[in-house]
Amino acid sequence: MQVTLIGMASGKIFLLEYSIHDLEKTLLNFLVEKEVTIASSCSGHGICKKCTIQKDWLTCEMTLKQFLERQADRTIYISYL
Ligand code: FES
Repeated sequence: MQVTLIGMASGKIFLLEYSIHDLEKTLLNFLVEKEVTIASSCSGHGICKKCTIQKDWLTCEMTLKQFLERQADRTIYISYL
């Protein structure tokens, strides 16, 4: 299983593999584990509002499972990447 990540600034596309064991991780932690450079200065406490994907979803406040339920095409868009 995989999610697609599109860097809107660079136009780069990444395919990120995940397993059932990743579903309860925060999306922020999942992306960090996949070595995606994602902005964060509050260590995932929902304060800095820098870890956004799509328009305004905070990756530190949703699990990978919640993301997959919300985004049917399984594509992550990061504006500054
Ligand atoms: S990491 Fe700061 S709000 Fe998500």
